[in-house]
Order: sequence, then structure tokens, then C-alpha cells
Amino acid sequence: MSTSPSRQSSLTEAPPRARDVVHALRASRIREVANAGIGLPDVLPFWFGESDQVTPSFIRDAASRALANGATFYNHNLGIAPLRAALSEYVTRLHGATPVDHIAVTSAGVNALMLAAQLVTGPGDRVVAVTPLWPNLVEIPRILGAAVETVTLDYGADGWTLDVDKLLAALTPGTRAVMINSPNNPTGWVMPRGAQQAVLDHCRRHGIWIIADEVYERLYYGDEGAVAPSFLDIAGRDERVIAVNSFSKAWLMTGWRLGWMVVPSSMMDDLGKLIEYNTSCAPSFVQEAGVVAVREGEAFTQDLVKRLRSARDHLVSALSALPGIDAHAPDGAMYVFFRLKGATDSLDLCKRLVRDAHLGLAPGSAFGDEGEGFVRWCYACDEARLDEGVKRLRGYLGR
Ligand SMILES: Cc1ncc(COP(=O)(O)O)c(C=O)c1O
Repeated sequence: MSTSPSRQSSLTEAPPRARDVVHALRASRIREVANAGIGLPDVLPFWFGESDQVTPSFIRDAASRALANGATFYNHNLGIAPLRAALSEYVTRLHGATPVDHIAVTSAGVNALMLAAQLVTGPGDRVVAVTPLWPNLVEIPRILGAAVETVTLDYGADGWTLDVDKLLAALTPGTRAVMINSPNNPTGWVMPRGAQQAVLDHCRRHGIWIIADEVYERLYYGDEGAVAPSFLDIAGRDERVIAVNSFSKAWLMTGWRLGWMVVPSSMMDDLGKLIEYNTSCAPSFVQEAGVVAVREGEAFTQDLVKRLRSARDHLVSALSALPGIDAHAPDGAMYVFFRLKGATDSLDLCKRLVRDAHLGLAPGSAFGDEGEGFVRWCYACDEARLDEGVKRLRGYLGR
């Protein structure tokens, strides 16, 4: 069979490729380690940010009921009215008056982050992110062509802390947005109120957007029942602040893909358009379950935080007993981000730990260069499993 000349030349060209900014994105190193381990028998996975427990039954039952009642259709771009109303009350209870016209329901936190970035950033914009950080916050603005610069938390005897002046100096006039995740994944750092106020004042002066990723706000180990300090506590609802949140962490709903955003009401129509062209809406039956989570889930969340606090303390003390490990108890989220003496290639180390000790941890370098030498361990599981993980780590280090 003869091949036409044009067909022939296309076969010799380089294979088709994504846009340059997409091609340049960093693949997730957490995934790289997990992919190396998934399928190995008996691996203990502490690499992802989720609990080993299934979503509580009162929420699963609500979804089943909604499905049985036929909640299978498209719905409003901004979310079903009962969920927006429930979230408005919830956010108002936590952070002060937040009318429904400031709330949009999203397909989980990561979609809310993408929407926030799409709302306010574009090609060539300068965006600043505080790191170490879950990589999605840094990569999402890059997909849109923004230039992302990072300001690093400092690591010392008290764990991770922010030099506020360093951050303010990086927020030069003309900067479009700052991305701050507190409580922070991976470090557990919680931004103190004073630092939030200083950043808010500065951003007000220079017209800089604050994109606040507060998906771990409930996983906070301050006073019992307390919520981590939020930009929503101090900012007006029509200021340049977008708060991103999720059902994944406080109600163990990672696989449901449900979240929300708090935005100035003047942007709701535009946000509705973006949601239409991204996902159109979050699934109806999932949203109905979300209403039950928000309205009836407070006791569950408070109990979850108690269990996480005790798992955190258990893991930190077990790790601290191992030689060469520097582990601090985080103030929020659900990770111990510990330093391992002599570790210079955390990706390689985590791959070896999976292969040789069947222990699944996330490499610190996945969260930025400053995370090198650290390893992240998600402790959202029972203590027996943590103990078995520590035993495997001890065995590996002792070889
Ligand atoms: C800091 C941070 N933001 C947002 C998310 C998004 O979570 P989800 O998309 O499941 O709501 C995560 C998930 O781990 C996270 O760690």
C-alpha cells in the first residue's frame, strides 16, 4: 500500500504535545511514589491526604436517599439552593455574616482553586505562593500562564514559621494574587491572626487578591472546638478575598468531589459562567448529601479532630524516639512533616521505603525545593496502623 507524501511527512514530525505551559507542569511526586507502590501486597499507605475511614453513614445514607428520589439531573451552576443556604449559615456561624450570594458550590476544593485562579489571574500575571505547599496551588496558576513566585516558611526549633516581612516584600505593587494555605499541607503551619491582618492590610493597599485555601480549617488543634484563624474573620465579604473550602477533610468526603468558595457577590455572575464552562455543576445527589453533612455533621467533625489530635501526638512521640528524626507536632491539618537526618533525595528515599519496607510516605520535595530532606506522613488512621508504620521505618533505618 502506498502512503501519500503528506501522511509520510507527518509521521516523521515530533509527536503531538500539549501547550508549553502544560508540558512544563511538574508531575506529582506523591503520585510517583504511590504508583510505584500500588499493587505491592501489604503496603501501608500514608501518602495521600485522606483518612482510612469511610464517609460517615448518615452522609452516605443521605446520598442514597437522594439517588432513590431521582436527584440525577443537572442543577444550578452555583449549587442547589438548600446547600448554598446551609453553607451560608455554616460560614456565618464560623466567620461572621456571609449571605448566600457570596457562596458558590464547586466540584471539590481543587476545582474551587482552579475557578479562583481563573477568576483573577491570566497570562503573565505575577502570583506569589507561600511554600512548602501542596503542589496544586502552585501549578494551577501556571496552567493559566501566570508566573508563580514562592515565599518560603522558615524551619527552626519551633517548626515552620512565616517571616511576615519577607512575604510583604514579595507582594510588590502589580502582584495579582497571593495564594495562602492555612492550616498548611504539608507542614501543618497555621497562619497567626496578626500575620493575616498584616497581609490583608498590605493587599488592600496594593489591590492584590488573596486566595485563601482553608480546606483544613476544621482540622485545627488549638482550643477544643475551635476553628483555625481565617481571612474571612477579618475581611469584608466584598473585598479582594476568595476563600476556598472542601467537604473532603472535615466530613471525610474525599471521593465525593464537593467543595465551595466564598467570593465577592459582584463576581458571582462571572463565576457562574466559569462553572458552566468547567463542570456546569456539582452532582445533585452529592450536594444533597452535603446539606446533611453541614447541618448534622458538627459532632462528627469535633470527634474527628479529637481522634486526629491523639493520632498526631502518638505519631510524633513514636517518630521522635527514632534516631535522626526531627518531628514537630503540627498545629493543623493531618500530616507530620518530619526531617530525616542525612536525607538529601526524599523522592528516592520514599521509593525505597515503598519497595523495601512497604511503607508509603510522601517525599518532601513534592511540596517545593525547601521540602527536600523532609517526609510527609498522613496520620488520619488508627494507632495500631501508625505503630506498624513506625516499626517498618525503624526496621528500614536500622539496616
Ligand atoms: C491544601 C489543599 N487544598 C485543597 C485540597 C483539595 O481537596 P479536594 O479537592 O479533595 O477538596 C487539598 C487536598 O488534599 C489540599 O491538601
